[in-house]
Amino acid sequence: MADKSPRGLADVVAASTAISDIDGREGRLFYRGYDIHDIAGKISFEECVHLLQRGHLPTQAELGTLAGELAAGREIGSTAESLLGYVVTSGTPMEALRTLVSALSVDDPDAGDPSIEASRRKATRLVAQMPVLVAKYEAARRGSTVPDPDPELGIAGNFLLQITGERPSDRAAEIFDECLVLHADHTMNASTFTARVIAATLSDMHSAITGAMGALRGPLHGGANEAVMRTLTSIDDGVDGVEGFVRAELEAGRKLMGFGHRVYKTEDPRATHLRKMSEELGKLTGNTLYHDMSRRMEQAVLEAKGLYPNVDFFAASVYHALGIPHDMFTPVFAISRMSGWTAHVIEQYEDNRLIRPDSEYTGPRDQRWVPIAER
Ligand code: COA
Repeated sequence: MADKSPRGLADVVAASTAISDIDGREGRLFYRGYDIHDIAGKISFEECVHLLQRGHLPTQAELGTLAGELAAGREIGSTAESLLGYVVTSGTPMEALRTLVSALSVDDPDAGDPSIEASRRKATRLVAQMPVLVAKYEAARRGSTVPDPDPELGIAGNFLLQITGERPSDRAAEIFDECLVLHADHTMNASTFTARVIAATLSDMHSAITGAMGALRGPLHGGANEAVMRTLTSIDDGVDGVEGFVRAELEAGRKLMGFGHRVYKTEDPRATHLRKMSEELGKLTGNTLYHDMSRRMEQAVLEAKGLYPNVDFFAASVYHALGIPHDMFTPVFAISRMSGWTAHVIEQYEDNRLIRPDSEYTGPRDQRWVPIAER
């Protein structure tokens, strides 16, 4: 019999990776050796994509090449386009987008080519297509169309343009760009692990990413940012209602969304940046309510449970202030994490072995079969 496994595979090293690293005790996160505190707000999401997918920060020329590939790769193809009208009529955005991401493979120029080189091209296209897909989904359910991308804007600015229909301010685009960098990769989180397990069967890039989308959707993972916003909007009395809400939730044995982390034993370093953005955007928009409620909530949860906010907590008030619809918060997470997922799938292909762990059997043994008529 196998040894008893740690619940939820806590502390189990499930893969080797050179893409990102976490020091949970010190609350530090590194992308290919760069401390997130050194690069957040300094590199663009496109530079981050290059770092994660291609292994190093780009030169100006390399960044230009990548920008050209991203601009050329953002068309979503006729299959996903034709499905939009169906998927907007029911279900949640993440259900729809999981289906749409899967459909992207049909029209991919490298469809059917399992080589690593083709997978690299698919990876770039997926990063380019994901924000367009999310914006097109939002436009389709509103019965409108997305504005054309502005060649002067990067992925972040163009996404804000296409999801809100208005050209973002320079500062809003910068802040959202930093959000995308902060969410881009995070070692062996549930969705990345899912993608690697699928890739390790030598299945294709789109299958791995579709699986990752399904894992991200859950409220214990990427679905938490949307759940945080639901929490904030459900509390009567604004800031004054926060402490009573926290107490009642904990007494009822319910978890508070946006708090706690499997790896971080102290503040999630991404939350440090998002807290500042939430404060700045509150001031810029003239509405600090959700930031003020969030601050009160983090104090209350720390005092009551010793838990710190994770990446999803302040992302909620940031995305709200940027004008992103609340049920699109998790798809926005997917726009960023696409860069990390695809990098991990390629890394898995480069040194592959089937991921097939053992399990600990807990059922009955030595059962005796009897014919159905005698049961
Ligand atoms: N609110 C209240 N209590 C929490 C909590 C939260 N957000 N997160 C953890 N806890 C408590 C659990 O109730 C448990 O308490 P107990 O030992 O008294 O039963 C203890 O802390 C350990 O929790 P557990 O769920 O086993 O930890 P984990 O490592 O499996 O879970 C998360 C990590 C992230 C899934 C968990 O913290 C959580 O569910 N957070 C809320 C969802 C969320 O924000 N997800 C986004 C993650 S980036």
